[in-house]
This record gives sequence, structure tokens and C-alpha cells, in this order.
Amino acid sequence: MIVAENLSKVFTMGENEVRALDGASFTINEGEMVAIMGPSGSGKTTLMSIIGCLDVPTDGRYVLDGEPVESLNESELAQVRGRKIGFVFQQFNLLARTSALENVMLPQLYAGATMKERTERAKKALERVGLGARMDHNPNELSGGQQQRVAIARALVNEPSIILADEPTGALDSKTGVEIMSLFQSLHRDNGQTVILVTHDSYVARHTDRIIRLSDGHIVSDEKNPSPIKAGAARDEEH
Ligand SMILES: Nc1ncnc2c1ncn2[C@@H]1O[C@H](COP(=O)(O)OP(=O)(O)OP(=O)(O)O)[C@@H](O)[C@H]1O
Ligand SMILES: [Mg+2]
Repeated sequence: MIVAENLSKVFTMGENEVRALDGASFTINEGEMVAIMGPSGSGKTTLMSIIGCLDVPTDGRYVLDGEPVESLNESELAQVRGRKIGFVFQQFNLLARTSALENVMLPQLYAGATMKERTERAKKALERVGLGARMDHNPNELSGGQQQRVAIARALVNEPSIILADEPTGALDSKTGVEIMSLFQSLHRDNGQTVILVTHDSYVARHTDRIIRLSDGHIVSDEKNPSPIKAGAARDEEH
């Protein structure tokens, strides 16, 4: 469970201060699927960085699964990140000239695991996202939607309880974007993963159970979406 109390984040640049977050409070329960919306510069990515333990607030409290995150040092934060959080980005952030399988294998923790076990896990994650038949392809041999599926498989490989996605459909056409939302919905439904995604697109947001809106670092609305759009079952693996 994610508990944010009065989160603020101030960036100091020379003499200027930018208040990226300004007293944001909310709770996100395990297994929720939430969209974060708001204009450019409203603090969405800053908030995701704090939720994802990539950064810490300047003020306020962030408690993740009962653990006050502000008290953790860099290496403890990295551990929490690795164990609990999977990240997905707008531009996929895959390594070029590296196969889908290798991209998914890279972030694996399990220091004790054999190469075979790590390979199996990565294959399973790629199958989960419908890319079992594309494992040996490099990113430039995959469509945008397929590249985002590889990135989602990479986010899943350590079995995180929380998936954080910053504009995951932002670089995709709307049909492919809906397919990616369908995949997030099925992860949320089948694995009970908490999914938090940032989007500018209100149609994308309506695929989630709850929409939090930010403006100037404040939460201006936080509403349940009683009837999320069902994007349908995830597309089957291509053969
Ligand atoms: N590392 C940083 N150093 C200085 N200022 C920053 C930093 N990161 C973000 N900011 C500032 O904080 C504010 C919020 O930025 P943030 O990236 O969180 O916005 P956003 O809502 O994600 O915007 P977008 O929709 O354009 O991605 C902006 O004014 C931005 O310029
Ligand atoms: Mg952003």
C-alpha cells in the first residue's frame, strides 16, 4: 500500500526554486489501477519518481508497505525499487542491438539464479505479454507496440507488486495504445498488480479504476471511475 502525506518536492536551481510538488496526499491500495493526469509541468513525473523510490520528497511522508521511505539510504531505496517496482516509459528505453530476450534478462535480481533460470523467467515474461515468438528480435525489428511489450516484460521480470508507467501509450497510435492498456488491465486483473500510469489522454485514463488530477503540484481531484472501459482480452501471441 502506498501512503503519501503532504508530499512536496522543491528543486533548487541557482537562485530559483521550482516547487514541483506542493502538498500532495493520497493512499493507493494494493491492486488498484490508477491514472495520474495533469498539464505539462504539474508534477506527474516528479510524483512517479517518488512513488518509485527514484527520488525522495523534500517534505512530507511516503510510506510504502508500512515502510517510511524517507528514512532509507540510497542502497536501501535501490533494493526496494528492485524488489517491488517495475518501470515502463514513454520511449520504451530498450537497449538497441540487443534482443528482446536479453533486454528482459538484464534487470533480473536473483544473484543466486543460474543463467538457465534467468532465461526461463525472461521467456515467461515475454510470453506473458504475447511476444513469445519475437524473443530473438532486436528493438528495431519490432513495432512500437511490440517494443512497449518488451519493456513491460522487462518491468515484470522481477515480479514487482507495483507497475509505474509514465505515458506508456504516448509514443503509440491510439489503437496500439488501447492494446497496451488491455495488457495493463489483464496484469492488474490476473496478477493483482498495482498499476499507476501517467497519461495526457483522457480516453486512456478511462481504462483505470481511479483518476488523480494534478495541477501545480497539488491534487485537484481524485475520483473513482465506476465503469472503466474494458479494452478486451490481451491480444494472443502472433504465430
Ligand atoms: N530535476 C529537476 N530539476 C529542476 N526542476 C525540475 C526537475 N524535474 C522537474 N522539474 C520541474 O518541476 C516541475 C514538474 O515537472 P514534472 O517533470 O514532474 O512535470 P510533468 O507533470 O511530468 O510534465 P510533463 O507532462 O511535461 O511530463 C516542472 O516545472 C519542471 O521543470
Ligand atoms: Mg512528465
